[in-house]
Amino acid sequence: MSDDAFRDSMGKAVVEYSRRPLEEELWSRMAANLRYYAGPYDDLASFESLAKIIDEIEHAAGCETQCLFYVSTPPSVFKPILENLGNSGLARRHRRTPFASKVVVEKPFGRDLTSARELNAVINRRFDESQVFRIDHYLGKETVQSLLVQRFANSIFEPVWNRNYVSCVQVTVAEDLGVGSRGGYYNRSGALRDMIQNHVMQLLALTAMEPPSSLDPEAIRDEKVKALKAIRPLDLEGDDSDVVRACYREGLVGGEKAQGYLEEEGIPEDSGTETYAALRLSLDNWRWKGVPFYIRSGKRMARKVSEIAVLFRRPPAILFSEGDRYDVSPNCLVLRIQPNEGVTLTLNSKIPGLETQLQPVELSFGYDTTFGSDTPEAYERLILDAMNGDGTLFIRGDETETSWGLFTPVLEHWAEQGQKDLEAYAAGTWGPLASDKLLLRDGHEWRLGTV
Ligand code: BG6
Repeated sequence: MSDDAFRDSMGKAVVEYSRRPLEEELWSRMAANLRYYAGPYDDLASFESLAKIIDEIEHAAGCETQCLFYVSTPPSVFKPILENLGNSGLARRHRRTPFASKVVVEKPFGRDLTSARELNAVINRRFDESQVFRIDHYLGKETVQSLLVQRFANSIFEPVWNRNYVSCVQVTVAEDLGVGSRGGYYNRSGALRDMIQNHVMQLLALTAMEPPSSLDPEAIRDEKVKALKAIRPLDLEGDDSDVVRACYREGLVGGEKAQGYLEEEGIPEDSGTETYAALRLSLDNWRWKGVPFYIRSGKRMARKVSEIAVLFRRPPAILFSEGDRYDVSPNCLVLRIQPNEGVTLTLNSKIPGLETQLQPVELSFGYDTTFGSDTPEAYERLILDAMNGDGTLFIRGDETETSWGLFTPVLEHWAEQGQKDLEAYAAGTWGPLASDKLLLRDGHEWRLGTV
């Protein structure tokens, strides 16, 4: 592509996606600085040429410039790219100044503990950790950022946010879509690698962590790592197994017939890849001992919804306790990540009338009704933060390794099993029966959509 063709395509993209009219004068100044350069990932000489182009731009600008390298490529070429950024000197530009180079690395960040460690070692040989931004777009979602505010800017939650009041926590990240045209990638990945190891564990860490001592990125990330480290290794077999995995077969999604995973394009018929996983996690720390954290994620589920539900213990059965006469539901705080972003708190209330009859009612807040619907895209926020060197909403190397450390034995176990313990669920449902049983064993049930 020529520089002009590139400028033109970027201009069109800005018009299409920026959600505001284009300011012509501003754009033409910006566009004049855009250059296009293509080269092979594993060719040091082309990275050196890129370095020269960047020097030219800096020279023409007459001021120091900062490089943000965005590595959004197949994971197999992360390594040569990062090495060549190092060997060409691009990684070291303006080191230890506010203009130091930065690198954003897209997921998947490794596929198990060993590969994540290798990737971190490659990165850390070339970049300081402060220059590295491992992206997880869930952290850029407005509702996820708001979790810290809801937890720590409201004094009413802290006293009850622990094993004395909480009976269980449920994190659901469900999608109604199937794998679409990404079958090749997905079949090597599966729900645990694609969604749970990263997005769902970030939601869990923010929910479970201790209050950080400040809003400093490292203070927050230290607490997240501590919470992840408190998770007990999972039981993988027998009646007490903490894990369920499943694959969708054909069914109805939104009234439309949807084919099964094995019929999707590019999926081998002996595939043992899970499109759904549910796990029971236990945190061995002071705050959460004895409180199960149930997490699940799947494709082709009943609908698209992501939420964190904190279920509280029932009150003592003294006043409203006569068998079935009173139905005392547990209070539940639901942080609605998407769609219909907001927060709901359920309370028991009396149905008006002469008899005392109870009914759960909802106190609800919605982002769109309160703030309007013009919230920034997750990536807009994240790219700006990376430019500004703010790592709060990015994943630190030890976070990824801790999470992979927990799930690698699960992945190895599943790989050994092949299709053996792979449950099935009909597309358009809430997953396999086995995932309901996972909770029933502890006397719980999924708040949202049991099978
Ligand atoms: C991506 C996964 O990270 O997140 C996809 O690779 C998934 O499989 C997507 O569909 C979901 O993102 P969101 O923002 O739509 O919940």
